[in-house]
Formats: sequence, structure tokens, C-alpha cells
Amino acid sequence: MIQIQTKGERNLYEHALGYARRQLRALIDRDPDFYPMYTSQGRWRHSGEAWTNWCEGFLPGMLWIIAAREPDDAAGRWWRDQAIRYSRPLEMRQFDREVHDLGFLFMSTYYRWRHLTGDPSLQSVLIEAGRTMAMRYRPQGEYLHSFVAESSLFIDIMMNVGIVFYAALETRDSKLMNIALRHCLTTRRVLVRGDGSTAHEGLFDVETGAFLGQSTHQGWRADSCWSRGLAWALYGFGTAYRCTRDARMLDAAEACTRFYIERTPSDGVPPWDYDAPPESRALVDTSAAAVATAGMFQLARLVPDQVRGQCYDAVARRILGTLCRSYLSEQDPQWEGILKGGVYHLGKNIGVNESVMWGEYFFVEALDLALRDSGPED
Ligand code: GLY
Repeated sequence: MIQIQTKGERNLYEHALGYARRQLRALIDRDPDFYPMYTSQGRWRHSGEAWTNWCEGFLPGMLWIIAAREPDDAAGRWWRDQAIRYSRPLEMRQFDREVHDLGFLFMSTYYRWRHLTGDPSLQSVLIEAGRTMAMRYRPQGEYLHSFVAESSLFIDIMMNVGIVFYAALETRDSKLMNIALRHCLTTRRVLVRGDGSTAHEGLFDVETGAFLGQSTHQGWRADSCWSRGLAWALYGFGTAYRCTRDARMLDAAEACTRFYIERTPSDGVPPWDYDAPPESRALVDTSAAAVATAGMFQLARLVPDQVRGQCYDAVARRILGTLCRSYLSEQDPQWEGILKGGVYHLGKNIGVNESVMWGEYFFVEALDLALRDSGPED
């Protein structure tokens, strides 16, 4: 059950979306055909390391979200043309076996493109991307392995397994469906803890598939809860529930959501890691907040219980209000991003307290969801 927005709330979201549009237009004019990842002192173009290539869908994804809100006039067609221009170069990545991020790359772009235009020729790209993603499956251990090693399972993959579900449902391929579901069940078993917190990585014996223990790359410690990982989990298990209606997926999504609600300060923006040491405890991650907001909007529309749905919707609106009021870069005319206060990788000291492309994307998605009167389409 979705809350009716007040006029003031609607104005706040529309203002933020208008600002996002201006920043995106400025980026396209200033640096055409560049796919940014994170800012350095507010600038998208810099020589900082990427670590891995997973962000190229987020800029065109935002262009698709905006294009879908536009009327079919010259201005609206400009957004659609830009969305196509930035999506098309990703096409060959349907065969990319180097990264575990094909959901991020294609559900933000080709999926939205297909949905908006109904063009059936786009379907084969999405299905192929789902099949490629499924090749990461390790029958010993029953998980899709991360880009770092065959022994490694990342919580982030919960945001990418959706493209395997999509390909399975569209082609009625029960083998693909089983791979996607097994991956989610393994992630739930080894990375979601009893209190709803999550670990970033699980390590396995590649020969036997035995689970060896939890680990991390971007969080504070193996036994800590990296806030973006938690946000990926709450959103990703919700998507898994939408695709399967398996109650275990909903339980996991709600357990992660309860942890987020109980452990995050009242403004809704979490520390970069819930167990961070005192010296970095004050560092927040607005990208985790943006992902959690979009994930909670999805969950609010999925849960059968109306009261819980209203609770998730209200929390999502509280977080979104904080992001709009306190983290827009509007007061800083030199800043090229939309949302300040994101963190990419503190251990590598890249993208710390900066704008990050996935933070921008899920913020724009959350604004779009908040402004819709009805729920998101399946
Ligand atoms: N590695 C994906 C992320 O930074 O969340």
C-alpha cells in the first residue's frame, strides 16, 4: 500500500529530479560519450583507478528513466536519443564474462529501453546477458562467482542475479531458474546473518564447494556490515521474491530491511560500515541510502501485509527527503555530480565522500518511484 504524497513532498522530489536533469545535460555537453564512475573533488574526469568495470549502465539508465517521464515531443525525443546513444555501445557486453555485473549493465539500459519502446529486437540482448551471467555458476557450492575468483561470492551479485531470473522467465528455462534460485539461497545461507546484517564476500573451497568463511573487500572487516552491501541485499532479495514468489526471498529482504531501519540514524543515511572504527565512523554513504530507498519502495509494493508496506514506504520517503534536503550538490556550482557523500572503496581511497554513478542512478530511480502514483511495473 503506497502513501499519497503531500504537495510539499512532490515539490521536493520534482525539484531534485529537475536538478538531476540539469547535471546530466551538463555532463553530456561537457564530456560527450564519457561514462563516469565516481568524482574526484567533484569532477567526473580524473585518473583514479576503476577497480572493475561495472558502472557503464548507470548514466544511460538515468537517461531512460527521464525519457520515460517525457512527452513525445522534441525535448522528450532528445532524452530518448541520448539514452540510445549511451546504451548501444554496451551491446557486446552481453557476452562479457569478466564481470559479475550484467544485471547492473542491462537492467538499467536494455530492459528499460525494451519496456519503453516495445522493440522486440532488444530482447535477445537481455536473454543472452542472462545466459552469460549464469555461466558464472559453480555447481560445487551453488553460487555465481564474483569477478575476483571462482572461490568468491559477493553480496553485490544479488543485484545482478535478476537478469538470470529475467532470461529464465522469458525463455521458460528451468535450468536457468534453478541456477538463479540456488544462488540466492546460498547467499542467504552464507552472507545474511541472523540479525539481518550482511557480509560482503563468502569464500568457498572450489573443489568441494564447502563454505570456508566470510570476508570483505569494501567493508571494514569480514564480520562487519558494509552498508552498501546490506542495501544491495535488501533490494536484490526483493527482486528475487518478485521473480519467484518464494517466501524465503521475502524473509531475507525484510530481515535486511529491518536491520537497516533499526541500525541507521534517524535521518536514514547510514555510516559507510555499521561497525566502522571511531576514525571513520562519521563517514556516511549516501549511495547505500539511495539503493536502500529504491529497494524499500519495491518492497513496499511487494509485501502482502499492508502495515509493513506502509512502514517501508514511509521510511523510504524519509530517507529520500534527507537526500534531497541535505546532500544535493546544488550549493556547490563547481560540483559535477548530483548527490554528495557517496563512498566507493575506502580501503583503496577511491571515491570517498564523492558522487558515485550508482548513487546517482538509484537516487533518480527512487525519485521516479516516489513520484509515481502507481507501483513500478514488473
Ligand atoms: N562493487 C560494487 C560496489 O561498489 O557496490
